[in-house]
Amino acid sequence: MDREIEATLEALLDERRTFEPPEAFAESAFLNDPAVYSEAERDPDAWWASQAERLDWFQRWDQVLEWKPPHHEWFLGGKLNASHNCLDRHLARDGDRVAYHWIGEPGEKRTITYRALHEEVCRLANALKDMGIRKGDRVAIYLPMIPELPAAMLACARIGAPHSVVFGGFSAESLRDRINDAEAKVLITADGGYRRGDVVPLKANADEAVGQTPSIETVIVVRRTNENVPMQEGRDVDYADLVEQASPECQAEALDSEDMLYILYTSGTTGKPKGILHTTGGYLTGVSATHHLVFDVRPETDVYWCAADIGWVTGHSYIVYGPLANGCTSILYEGAPDFPDKDRWWSIIEEYGVSILYTAPTAIRTFMKWGPQYADKHDLSSLRLLGSVGEPINPEAWIWYQQFIGGGKTPVVDTWWQTETGAIAITPLPGITTLKPGSATKPFPGVFADVLDEQGHPVGRGGGGYLVLKRPIPSMFRTIYKDDARYRETYFGRYGDHIYFPGDGAKLDDDGYFWLLGRVDDVMNIAGHRISTYEVESALVDHPDVAEAAVVGRRHPQEGEAIAAFVTPKATRIGDEELAQELRAHVAKVIGKIARPHSIVFTEDLPKTRSGKIMRRLLRDVAEGRQLGDVTTLQNAPILDEIRSKANSLQGDEA
Ligand code: PRX
Repeated sequence: MDREIEATLEALLDERRTFEPPEAFAESAFLNDPAVYSEAERDPDAWWASQAERLDWFQRWDQVLEWKPPHHEWFLGGKLNASHNCLDRHLARDGDRVAYHWIGEPGEKRTITYRALHEEVCRLANALKDMGIRKGDRVAIYLPMIPELPAAMLACARIGAPHSVVFGGFSAESLRDRINDAEAKVLITADGGYRRGDVVPLKANADEAVGQTPSIETVIVVRRTNENVPMQEGRDVDYADLVEQASPECQAEALDSEDMLYILYTSGTTGKPKGILHTTGGYLTGVSATHHLVFDVRPETDVYWCAADIGWVTGHSYIVYGPLANGCTSILYEGAPDFPDKDRWWSIIEEYGVSILYTAPTAIRTFMKWGPQYADKHDLSSLRLLGSVGEPINPEAWIWYQQFIGGGKTPVVDTWWQTETGAIAITPLPGITTLKPGSATKPFPGVFADVLDEQGHPVGRGGGGYLVLKRPIPSMFRTIYKDDARYRETYFGRYGDHIYFPGDGAKLDDDGYFWLLGRVDDVMNIAGHRISTYEVESALVDHPDVAEAAVVGRRHPQEGEAIAAFVTPKATRIGDEELAQELRAHVAKVIGKIARPHSIVFTEDLPKTRSGKIMRRLLRDVAEGRQLGDVTTLQNAPILDEIRSKANSLQGDEA
């Protein structure tokens, strides 16, 4: 990085600045009066009802909330359809508006209007009906990031058939287990997809999976790569033929607010994934309200880009249901950020005039590592708001994002939520909130969050403990599919049926801002001191020569656990003993001696899932010298061997 830029950055960090909403932004924002918080707090049901009113209901609800802890239902008696809300209701006025600008990794482009998407969805919905799919039947979807993916989800929603989208990076075995748990009747997949120039063999994986999934009757195959894939007579059908032959007229089913919209599997602390179950009315209310207000979206003028994969909840809520319910124009990009070069995202932003970008800290830190010259090559002045999601964002990455991508002028909304909450729950409101880099700031209006200690007492300002939600929110999941006992135990076992425990640690600062500290299952106990892996990681990435860091606890005979750090230095610095000493001293300075890593392994990259999450579980295995657990979701498996050989030579290297 340019020395001058670096000096500016360091000065910013030293200032620990806060950021007021830019005046012009605040003036025109949908929400710019903090009274919204107290109003929502006084009467949360009325607040959520006012958000539900932004949707089209075939029949209005009789009751906003029925809360029988730990269960809750929303907008009881109301009838609606998610596909109708995402498509039909926009047609009369905005049918020619672009729903998605799609960009294939090899470079193809497609522009899909609301009208075109509506027709495709109706045709596919009819085709599913012709196959005998009825309300309540589950449909599995295993597709790359192509327009057929949102179309397939909405076709299911249209007829009331819950979808279960399985991320295209998952293996055949993972796909099989998810299909079997949901007992899906149909699988919608593709011949393949593109990733960094390579073809991902989706159909081959699907064939392997479907060999062991007795519930699947039909496999629908989208032609993406046009490779010659075997089609099994009587089971496999071509998506294009099917859609072409089906009628373009399909009435959206009037579904109950509490009818199931989808299942999405997510990892828990055990090996078996949890089927997170979302229903229709509450979920759609939550995602459309948060998308509208957190991103302050203007559907007439904004070009919005959530650069996640639809296979994860971020894509479900903020590429598909939220933006479409709001009639917004989105970017849908199929591939990797460094294909063909490391400026791919910035070239897309320039070409389409993207005004809102929503991505994950891990991506931001990767861009930091590559350096700002890639963004510099492009005109990013169309950007007016940036978002972050998925993990705690360290202040340095936050500042870098705002400076080098946002041109120093955009608000950055750091949004905390989960697959389980369905929608953003803790977040700034960009026209109201004074931003503090590294803090997700405050609960969204109508969300009652707090931080409790082990005994369930609020820790109060200045204290740290466990994040909880004290009242349900409409977008929250209803249960774990076919496993309500696990729902009760995982989320309500700690503080009882009234208090949802998301599994995250948090601190409240003196202004009542929430600072998320990562999963509490990643909390270490070092010589009787509770230290979050995230705190140590933040301290490490706070050092000017560190690009990325992951920290895990390793069993230690004297101290209970020892801190093992895996660090990627910036390109300008070599990871040697000198740097290791500096880092130990730096962590000691930032947190205290107790948090100094016992061992530091320098590595060019960290093991990550396709969605960019660092797989600490595998690093823990490495640190403990154990056999590695499941590596199927890893995007960069070879790096583990390298890390392991370095770590072996470090065993016993205790500071
Ligand atoms: O630990 C929190 C972290 O991601 C977890 C949820 O992961 P998942 O269900 O995969 O959903 C990710 C996208 C919503 C949370 O329990 N997390 C998510 N957002 C943040 C975060 N941690 C800190 N700050 C965030 N903004």
